[in-house]
Amino acid sequence: MAHDTDALKAQVGEAAARMVAELPSGSLIGVGTGSTANHFIAALGRLPRGHVGGAVSSSEASTARLHAAGIRVLEAAQVERLPLYVDGADEIDPRGHMIKGAGAALTREKIVADLAERFVCIADASKQVAVLGRFPLPVEVIAMGSAQIARRFAALGGRAVVRAGVLTDNVHPLLDVHDLRIDDPLALESEINQWPGVVTVGIFARHRAHSALIAAPDGVRRIDF
Ligand code: 5RP
Repeated sequence: MAHDTDALKAQVGEAAARMVAELPSGSLIGVGTGSTANHFIAALGRLPRGHVGGAVSSSEASTARLHAAGIRVLEAAQVERLPLYVDGADEIDPRGHMIKGAGAALTREKIVADLAERFVCIADASKQVAVLGRFPLPVEVIAMGSAQIARRFAALGGRAVVRAGVLTDNVHPLLDVHDLRIDDPLALESEINQWPGVVTVGIFARHRAHSALIAAPDGVRRIDF
Protein backbone atom coordinates (compact mmCIF):
# COMPACT_ATOMS: atom_id res chain seq x y z
CA MET A 1 0.00 0.00 0.00
CA ALA A 2 1.17 3.53 -0.81
CA HIS A 3 0.92 4.56 2.83
CA ASP A 4 3.13 1.64 3.95
CA THR A 5 5.75 2.45 1.32
CA ASP A 6 5.84 6.04 2.46
CA ALA A 7 6.31 4.93 6.08
CA LEU A 8 9.27 2.76 4.98
CA LYS A 9 10.76 5.70 3.09
CA ALA A 10 10.40 7.83 6.23
CA GLN A 11 12.18 5.17 8.33
CA VAL A 12 15.10 4.94 5.95
CA GLY A 13 15.33 8.73 5.72
CA GLU A 14 15.62 8.85 9.51
CA ALA A 15 18.27 6.11 9.47
CA ALA A 16 20.35 8.06 6.95
CA ALA A 17 20.07 11.21 9.06
CA ARG A 18 21.46 9.19 12.00
CA MET A 19 24.52 8.40 9.81
CA VAL A 20 24.91 12.13 9.20
CA ALA A 21 24.62 12.74 12.95
CA GLU A 22 27.75 10.57 13.38
CA LEU A 23 29.82 12.82 11.07
CA PRO A 24 31.83 15.63 12.68
CA SER A 25 29.76 18.74 13.30
CA GLY A 26 29.92 21.14 10.36
CA SER A 27 30.38 18.40 7.74
CA LEU A 28 29.28 19.01 4.18
CA ILE A 29 27.03 16.42 2.54
CA GLY A 30 25.41 15.68 -0.80
CA VAL A 31 21.64 15.40 -0.93
CA GLY A 32 19.60 13.52 -3.51
CA THR A 33 16.15 13.94 -4.99
CA GLY A 34 12.82 12.15 -4.72
CA SER A 35 10.26 11.10 -2.16
CA THR A 36 12.77 9.09 -0.08
CA ALA A 37 15.31 11.93 -0.18
CA ASN A 38 12.51 14.28 0.91
CA HIS A 39 12.12 12.27 4.12
CA PHE A 40 15.90 12.41 4.59
CA ILE A 41 15.87 16.20 4.21
CA ALA A 42 13.05 16.50 6.75
CA ALA A 43 15.06 14.35 9.20
CA LEU A 44 18.17 16.49 8.59
CA GLY A 45 16.10 19.50 9.63
CA ARG A 46 15.62 17.86 13.03
CA LEU A 47 19.40 17.55 13.69
CA PRO A 48 20.98 20.24 15.90
CA ARG A 49 21.27 23.48 13.96
CA GLY A 50 24.68 23.79 12.29
CA HIS A 51 25.50 20.09 12.51
CA VAL A 52 25.25 19.96 8.72
CA GLY A 53 27.69 22.66 7.62
CA GLY A 54 26.18 22.76 4.15
CA ALA A 55 24.69 20.59 1.43
CA VAL A 56 25.27 20.23 -2.28
CA SER A 57 21.84 19.61 -3.75
CA SER A 58 20.95 17.46 -6.76
CA SER A 59 17.88 19.43 -7.86
CA GLU A 60 15.97 22.68 -7.56
CA ALA A 61 13.26 20.75 -5.68
CA SER A 62 15.69 19.46 -3.05
CA THR A 63 17.31 22.88 -2.79
CA ALA A 64 13.94 24.40 -1.86
CA ARG A 65 13.37 21.70 0.77
CA LEU A 66 16.88 22.12 2.20
CA HIS A 67 16.32 25.84 2.56
CA ALA A 68 12.98 25.18 4.28
CA ALA A 69 14.78 22.78 6.66
CA GLY A 70 17.28 25.53 7.54
CA ILE A 71 20.26 23.92 5.78
CA ARG A 72 22.77 25.99 3.84
CA VAL A 73 23.02 24.99 0.17
CA LEU A 74 26.37 25.22 -1.60
CA GLU A 75 27.13 25.22 -5.32
CA ALA A 76 28.95 22.10 -6.50
CA ALA A 77 31.76 24.34 -7.73
CA GLN A 78 32.43 25.49 -4.14
CA VAL A 79 33.22 21.94 -2.99
CA GLU A 80 36.06 19.54 -3.80
CA ARG A 81 34.98 16.49 -1.80
CA LEU A 82 31.94 15.42 0.17
CA PRO A 83 32.27 12.69 2.81
CA LEU A 84 28.77 11.41 2.13
CA TYR A 85 26.06 11.52 -0.53
CA VAL A 86 22.61 10.19 0.35
CA ASP A 87 20.05 9.51 -2.39
CA GLY A 88 17.29 7.15 -3.41
CA ALA A 89 17.12 4.83 -6.41
CA ASP A 90 14.57 3.27 -8.73
CA GLU A 91 16.36 -0.10 -8.67
CA ILE A 92 19.45 -1.42 -6.89
CA ASP A 93 21.17 -4.72 -7.65
CA PRO A 94 23.21 -6.98 -5.32
CA ARG A 95 26.45 -5.13 -6.19
CA GLY A 96 25.12 -1.62 -5.53
CA HIS A 97 24.55 -0.74 -9.19
CA MET A 98 21.44 1.40 -9.59
CA ILE A 99 18.91 2.79 -12.02
CA LYS A 100 18.10 6.39 -11.12
CA GLY A 101 16.27 9.29 -12.72
CA ALA A 102 12.54 8.77 -12.30
CA GLY A 103 12.61 12.18 -10.61
CA ALA A 104 14.46 13.68 -13.63
CA ALA A 105 17.48 14.68 -11.51
CA LEU A 106 19.96 12.06 -12.77
CA THR A 107 22.56 14.45 -14.22
CA ARG A 108 22.97 16.54 -11.09
CA GLU A 109 22.75 13.37 -9.00
CA LYS A 110 25.70 11.88 -10.88
CA ILE A 111 27.66 15.12 -10.50
CA VAL A 112 27.11 15.12 -6.73
CA ALA A 113 27.88 11.40 -6.52
CA ASP A 114 31.18 12.10 -8.29
CA LEU A 115 32.14 14.52 -5.50
CA ALA A 116 31.35 12.03 -2.76
CA GLU A 117 33.62 9.61 -0.92
CA ARG A 118 30.62 7.44 -0.02
CA PHE A 119 27.27 7.03 -1.76
CA VAL A 120 24.60 5.72 0.58
CA CYS A 121 21.48 4.60 -1.25
CA ILE A 122 18.24 4.81 0.74
CA ALA A 123 15.32 2.74 -0.46
CA ASP A 124 12.45 0.53 0.51
CA ALA A 125 12.92 -3.17 -0.21
CA SER A 126 10.77 -3.06 -3.36
CA LYS A 127 13.72 -1.36 -5.12
CA GLN A 128 15.99 -4.40 -4.74
CA VAL A 129 16.35 -6.46 -7.93
CA ALA A 130 18.59 -9.30 -9.07
CA VAL A 131 19.17 -7.71 -12.50
CA LEU A 132 18.59 -4.06 -13.44
CA GLY A 133 16.15 -3.17 -16.21
CA ARG A 134 12.59 -3.91 -15.19
CA PHE A 135 12.26 -0.21 -14.34
CA PRO A 136 12.43 1.92 -17.53
CA LEU A 137 15.90 3.41 -17.82
CA PRO A 138 15.89 7.25 -17.75
CA VAL A 139 18.28 9.01 -20.13
CA GLU A 140 18.70 12.80 -20.29
CA VAL A 141 19.40 13.83 -23.89
CA ILE A 142 19.98 16.81 -26.14
CA ALA A 143 16.70 17.10 -28.07
CA MET A 144 18.40 17.09 -31.49
CA GLY A 145 19.89 13.64 -30.86
CA SER A 146 16.85 11.94 -29.34
CA ALA A 147 15.57 10.11 -32.46
CA GLN A 148 18.98 8.60 -33.23
CA ILE A 149 19.47 7.66 -29.57
CA ALA A 150 16.05 5.95 -29.62
CA ARG A 151 17.16 3.97 -32.71
CA ARG A 152 20.34 2.90 -30.93
CA PHE A 153 18.27 1.63 -28.00
CA ALA A 154 15.96 -0.22 -30.41
CA ALA A 155 19.03 -2.02 -31.79
CA LEU A 156 19.67 -3.26 -28.22
CA GLY A 157 16.06 -4.41 -27.82
CA GLY A 158 14.94 -1.33 -25.88
CA ARG A 159 11.90 0.83 -26.49
CA ALA A 160 12.65 4.50 -25.81
CA VAL A 161 9.71 6.78 -24.99
CA VAL A 162 10.03 10.56 -24.60
CA ARG A 163 8.85 11.56 -21.10
CA ALA A 164 5.93 13.78 -22.05
CA GLY A 165 5.76 17.27 -20.62
CA VAL A 166 9.00 16.97 -18.65
CA LEU A 167 12.26 18.88 -18.99
CA THR A 168 15.10 18.47 -16.50
CA ASP A 169 16.52 21.29 -14.35
CA ASN A 170 19.11 21.57 -17.16
CA VAL A 171 16.24 22.09 -19.64
CA HIS A 172 16.75 18.86 -21.56
CA PRO A 173 14.21 16.16 -22.46
CA LEU A 174 14.27 12.64 -21.05
CA LEU A 175 13.83 9.25 -22.65
CA ASP A 176 12.53 6.31 -20.60
CA VAL A 177 13.81 3.07 -22.10
CA HIS A 178 11.64 -0.02 -21.57
CA ASP A 179 12.48 -3.71 -22.02
CA LEU A 180 16.23 -3.53 -21.41
CA ARG A 181 17.85 -6.33 -19.44
CA ILE A 182 21.01 -4.87 -17.99
CA ASP A 183 23.30 -7.82 -17.29
CA ASP A 184 26.51 -5.75 -17.33
CA PRO A 185 25.64 -2.28 -15.97
CA LEU A 186 29.19 -0.90 -16.18
CA ALA A 187 29.62 -1.94 -19.83
CA LEU A 188 26.22 -0.60 -20.88
CA GLU A 189 26.74 2.69 -19.02
CA SER A 190 30.11 3.11 -20.77
CA GLU A 191 28.60 2.30 -24.18
CA ILE A 192 25.64 4.69 -23.87
CA ASN A 193 27.95 7.44 -22.61
CA GLN A 194 29.64 7.36 -26.04
CA TRP A 195 26.47 8.13 -27.99
CA PRO A 196 26.28 11.71 -29.30
CA GLY A 197 23.51 13.67 -27.61
CA VAL A 198 23.41 11.62 -24.41
CA VAL A 199 23.78 13.98 -21.45
CA THR A 200 23.47 11.35 -18.73
CA VAL A 201 22.29 7.75 -18.61
CA GLY A 202 20.52 6.70 -15.43
CA ILE A 203 22.73 3.64 -14.89
CA PHE A 204 24.85 4.33 -11.81
CA ALA A 205 27.51 1.63 -12.11
CA ARG A 206 30.68 3.67 -12.17
CA HIS A 207 29.07 5.74 -9.40
CA ARG A 208 27.42 2.81 -7.65
CA ALA A 209 26.40 2.83 -4.03
CA HIS A 210 29.00 1.99 -1.38
CA SER A 211 26.24 1.13 1.08
CA ALA A 212 22.48 0.85 1.07
CA LEU A 213 19.96 1.36 3.83
CA ILE A 214 16.99 -0.83 2.92
CA ALA A 215 13.68 -0.47 4.75
CA ALA A 216 11.36 -3.45 5.10
CA PRO A 217 8.46 -4.01 7.49
CA ASP A 218 10.85 -5.72 9.96
CA GLY A 219 13.22 -2.73 10.08
CA VAL A 220 16.08 -0.98 8.28
CA ARG A 221 19.01 -3.12 7.14
CA ARG A 222 22.42 -1.81 6.09
CA ILE A 223 24.26 -3.47 3.20
CA ASP A 224 27.89 -2.61 2.41
CA PHE A 225 28.96 -3.38 -1.15
C1 5RP B 1 15.47 11.08 -8.94
C2 5RP B 1 15.92 9.74 -8.50
C3 5RP B 1 15.31 9.18 -7.28
O1 5RP B 1 16.33 8.92 -6.34
C4 5RP B 1 14.60 7.90 -7.61
O2 5RP B 1 13.66 8.16 -8.64
C5 5RP B 1 13.86 7.34 -6.39
O3 5RP B 1 12.79 8.15 -6.06
P1 5RP B 1 11.83 7.88 -4.85
O4 5RP B 1 12.64 8.03 -3.60
O5 5RP B 1 10.75 8.93 -4.99
O6 5RP B 1 11.27 6.49 -4.99
O7 5RP B 1 16.76 9.12 -9.10
O8 5RP B 1 16.03 11.46 -10.16
